[in-house]
Amino acid sequence: MRAITYGRHGQAGQVLRLSEWPAPAAPAAGQVQVRVLSRPVHPGDLAGVEGLPGGPRQRFALPRIPGVEGMGVIESVGAGVQDLRPGQRVAFFPVPDAWSELVTAPADRVVPVPEGLSDETAALMLVNPLTLLSLLQAVEDAQRGQAGPVVQTAAGSSVGKMVSAAALKHGIRLVNLVRSAKGAQTLRQRFPALPAISTADANWRTQVQDATGGRGAQVVLDAVGGSLTGELAGLLADGGTLITYGQLGSGSTPLESLTLTPRALTVRGTSVFQWMTARTPEERAEDVAFATRLAATAPELFEVAARYDLADFAKAIDHVRRPGRSGTVLLASPAP
Ligand SMILES: NC(=O)c1ccc[n+]([C@@H]2O[C@H](COP(=O)([O-])OP(=O)(O)OC[C@H]3O[C@@H](n4cnc5c(N)ncnc54)[C@H](OP(=O)(O)O)[C@@H]3O)[C@@H](O)[C@H]2O)c1
Repeated sequence: MRAITYGRHGQAGQVLRLSEWPAPAAPAAGQVQVRVLSRPVHPGDLAGVEGLPGGPRQRFALPRIPGVEGMGVIESVGAGVQDLRPGQRVAFFPVPDAWSELVTAPADRVVPVPEGLSDETAALMLVNPLTLLSLLQAVEDAQRGQAGPVVQTAAGSSVGKMVSAAALKHGIRLVNLVRSAKGAQTLRQRFPALPAISTADANWRTQVQDATGGRGAQVVLDAVGGSLTGELAGLLADGGTLITYGQLGSGSTPLESLTLTPRALTVRGTSVFQWMTARTPEERAEDVAFATRLAATAPELFEVAARYDLADFAKAIDHVRRPGRSGTVLLASPAP
């Protein structure tokens, strides 16, 4: 089968290859085999290829195939699998090797796609909504019943737009932060009730202070990190919490510079990869029902930037790196 593979960590455009790879084994008891039609290129997939400190570099042997999410059609099911049958359209997460034409996965990581949902939406149906749930839970934990202002970075991202929609629904006082004036303008048009501020403005810190009522943010949701972390800690009110869930930025911030102790600040991380272990099967079923409902009722939150054939992965990665992109890039097989 065709698969995108990498034999060493490095720039994704340089180390990834289109390879002929052995097809996975037929499904054992409790497993299903899925012919993958579409899978997203998430920033986290590229970070895994590049090998972030503490990330997959330490955990997985190379060569390997990126990707953890996608959608396709069930080819075959192993013994004891109920409610899933060959020919059925399904979405899956977390399933390694998603950037290949076939995956074999435990049945409890595979979700039927409701009729009426497009293949493209289905390919994005799980990771981002499950991330949204983990972020909302982290915000609620940090707020401890006091609904202070929340600032989020990279607010124009696919996850960021889900956070904005959820904030409007749940009455969270959200301030959106992006890196360009154009990005801020686009977000203001989409979510006029939410302040959107560009870090390209010289006075962006003052604008955030004003938007948070002069007292600073109770919570910062951050997907950028790096050298921005110190600035973000500075936006917090005393006792506030910085929730980190991505590393889009560059540079670094020493922990000692964050004045955690005198200002009683908290820094915590959250990752969708904890979902399988942190949630009970019943909670996971509720989460998946939420994700499926969101995909059915708000498909605009599952925007697709473009589709590329697996063989055109390099063009897809270039597209992902393009500033100002809106939506997620998909890799399709066979060719769209
Ligand atoms: N922890 C988890 O479990 C988890 C799960 C899912 C996603 N994530 C993280 O969530 C973040 C968003 O993911 P996504 O798929 O929604 O992203 P996305 O749709 O690909 O959008 C990426 C966004 O990041 C912005 N951006 C890129 N580099 C930046 C930088 N150096 N400084 C500031 N902004 C920057 C882009 O802004 P422009 O419009 O200006 O280009 C764009 O709006 C990523 O960090 C991802 O790794 C984490």
